[in-house]
Amino acid sequence: MARLLVTGGAGFIGANFVHYWVEQYPDDRVVVLDSLTYAGNLASLEGLTDCEQFRFVKESIVEKDVVATLLREEQIDTVVHFAAESHVDRSISGPADFIDTNIVGTHNLLQAARSAWLDSDDAPASHRFHHVSTDEVYGSLGPTDPGFSESTPYAPNSPYSASKAASDHLVRAYHHTYGLQVTTSNCSNNYGPYQFPEKLIPLMIVNALEGKLLPVYGDGSNIRDWLYVEDHVRAIDLVLKKGRVGETYNIGGNEEWANIDIVNRICAAIDTAFVDDGELATRFPDAPAAKGGQTASLITSVKDRPGHDWRYAIDPSRAQNELGFRPQHDFAGGLASTIDWMLNNEAWWRAVMDGSYRDWVTKHYASS
Ligand code: NAD
Ligand code: TYD
Repeated sequence: MARLLVTGGAGFIGANFVHYWVEQYPDDRVVVLDSLTYAGNLASLEGLTDCEQFRFVKESIVEKDVVATLLREEQIDTVVHFAAESHVDRSISGPADFIDTNIVGTHNLLQAARSAWLDSDDAPASHRFHHVSTDEVYGSLGPTDPGFSESTPYAPNSPYSASKAASDHLVRAYHHTYGLQVTTSNCSNNYGPYQFPEKLIPLMIVNALEGKLLPVYGDGSNIRDWLYVEDHVRAIDLVLKKGRVGETYNIGGNEEWANIDIVNRICAAIDTAFVDDGELATRFPDAPAAKGGQTASLITSVKDRPGHDWRYAIDPSRAQNELGFRPQHDFAGGLASTIDWMLNNEAWWRAVMDGSYRDWVTKHYASS
């Protein structure tokens, strides 16, 4: 039986991970530590709060003492660290929170883990610190460059990716210097249930349903490698079970798509959904599809993101060969499931899109 501390477990990937873990490993203890920023929502952990194996703690990883106390009190032997400020655009308009949470917060966790696991008489017999990171630490690729491998030099370009890169280096250093048993995964762009509607895919779905513009940065040619979140969660499980301590694993979906193609696919899928289900026109009367129009009429080219990375892609060889990891969802299936989920969970996305999100979006677009 393992005793997990999951930081950022009320966020997008963290919540998916917690749902998966509780179902797969009902004997394990799962403690979520999350400060519930605008991106964290207890509604994403629905059904778990009454579960005996589960505990939720609303605190920040920046609070050193809280983390140290929790590790000891709960006799944690496994940290899975998702908590982060995660949106590139926000890191451009306000980088300071990214430094605090992603760098200082990660360092606090490492310090607490070192103290509880390496410098304590009642340390667990074995331990693991798994750090969840991003492919964005490697910078941007040209059209014919090979995908990022674990030995690609770091070249982060945004305050977000720079803060994640710093945290990756700290995790590495705690292994090499102190012997902390760490693993890191650097994953490509995720999508799926519980993603906050500020990231490309859920934002476009919500705007399409509400008849708002679909803002495509620049010419829409930027490419990301997309992975359905359930596959990412399974990959983390494999790293925890089979990953070599001290190693990093690049996780990708093998699904490279340009932004404009994704937005067009979402528009076409929503048009079809309105034809198939007459009730959608009543639920979303402002959608062009409700009036027999085309969702794609909402697509608008807006000013490009400063320093916008052009392409990310993953060389998945190590995760394939060492962990046996292969995504189970292709992009077509994953996108269809995500659109279905958003249509069936309107209450969830309306609840998370509270005032702070709207204020930020208004300010962001006013200044661009
Ligand atoms: P998210 O923004 O949806 O969730 C982040 C969570 O962390 C939220 O619940 C938030 O409340 C919490 N949090 C933020 N600051 C905190 C603090 N100081 N203390 C405690 N909790 C705090 O992010 P996500 O998309 O789920 O990403 C999770 C992790 O995966 C991040 O580390 C991110 O860098 C990494 N990642 C994300 C993607 C992606 O496509 N979303 C891809 C690769 C890697
Ligand atoms: P995003 O979901 O913010 O993820 P990341 O920047 O971490 O890759 O953005 C994905 C891509 O979509 C990125 O190239 C920026 C672009 N994008 C838009 O064109 N319009 C939008 O409104 C958003 C949020 C993103």
